[in-house]
Amino acid sequence: MIVTYRINQKRLWNTLMELAKIGASPNKKEGITRLSLSLEDLEAREYLINLMKESDLHVHVDPIGNIIGSLAGTNENAPAVIVGSHIDTVFQGGIFDGSLGVLGAIEAVRTIKESGIKLTHPIDVVSFTDEEGSRFGTGYIGSKGMTGELTEDYFTLKDDKGLSYQEAFLQANLNPTNYKDAVRNGNEMKAYIEMHIEQGKVLEENNLAVGIVTDIQGPIWLEVTLIGSADHAGATPMDMRRDASLCMAEILLEIEKIAKHYEGVGTVGKLKIEPGGVNIIPGKGTFSVDLRHVDKQIRTQMVNEVYGKIEITCKKRKIQFQIVKKKDVDPTSCSESMIAVLEDVCKELNIKTMKLPCGAGHDSLIMSKVTEMGMIFIRSKDGISHHPNEWSEKEDCATGTQVLFQSLLRLAK
Ligand code: GLV
Ligand code: MN
Ligand code: MN
Repeated sequence: MIVTYRINQKRLWNTLMELAKIGASPNKKEGITRLSLSLEDLEAREYLINLMKESDLHVHVDPIGNIIGSLAGTNENAPAVIVGSHIDTVFQGGIFDGSLGVLGAIEAVRTIKESGIKLTHPIDVVSFTDEEGSRFGTGYIGSKGMTGELTEDYFTLKDDKGLSYQEAFLQANLNPTNYKDAVRNGNEMKAYIEMHIEQGKVLEENNLAVGIVTDIQGPIWLEVTLIGSADHAGATPMDMRRDASLCMAEILLEIEKIAKHYEGVGTVGKLKIEPGGVNIIPGKGTFSVDLRHVDKQIRTQMVNEVYGKIEITCKKRKIQFQIVKKKDVDPTSCSESMIAVLEDVCKELNIKTMKLPCGAGHDSLIMSKVTEMGMIFIRSKDGISHHPNEWSEKEDCATGTQVLFQSLLRLAK
């Protein structure tokens, strides 16, 4: 079904640039910071709600804070096609991660509305709460809330300032007490589709604006605490120390070796040494570990080896340790049926494309557990992401949104 309606590239770009102003640091080099439920995130949520209303969508915020803009179908009992992403960012992030998926979805659905085409299935544009996990250390909260994976424990998690998730929700005028009311059964959904920047260089190297995702790596996040003993840097001989920072350094290098050996990825992005004095031997160290692989079994081997190395290194250095698992999401594959829809649409639109795996994590990992899931990738400049220099061209964003529009027509037909 070739439909000649075009999404509005200029309008899409304007919304991207407007949203990008919210949480932007006056120093451009510091990018955008919209941590989940922060004042900046709340302002962005307000912007989004207004944009959805202006686009003539019916807006509803569920108990876990997911913002849902709905376009009714001709059969109100038909399962909904869900399309979305997130608008929270990492610390000093970029313009496109998440935002393009949400704003592109609004643009696509707005175009459907304007075209007057009647579709059987409702379409719900969703902006999921806290995809990134940058503030409370876990993420995918909105999609977990929607799929019924959330438990009360999540609300006791704390941010770096000691504020609990529950308190942050209340401060944001959201009360997650009825979080179970956010759950939607799989049979209420027909499919989930997400457009996202690639955050890698594959499309750029292949000179393609748009890609179709096949598999998504699943992340495991650990928080490791090492307890040695703080002591005098001058008066304590080297062989009488229990130095948490040296122990940490040794473990970090082991993580690199393990990730390379298994052809996965391993990252330590947050670390802290205490008490933190030039002339004090570090008594305590805390660090995060992010481990990913497209193959679950191999990832389990990676995780086991990391646990083993932490144990051996700590024993050797007489350091006590604790490991807390903060996130554990299985790698997943996109649905064959969704890949087929996207391939067909690209063919019809004469858009050259390719299939490729996805390194980053997305709400689609969670949504795939309850419904058919597919992802469209947009070329990223130099593959840079989670960084102020994150960039995708206006034309590429529009091409991907046209694919999204056309795919929605098929899925909601
Ligand atoms: C989110 O962007 C992640 O992959 O951690
Ligand atoms: Mn994202
Ligand atoms: Mn991200």
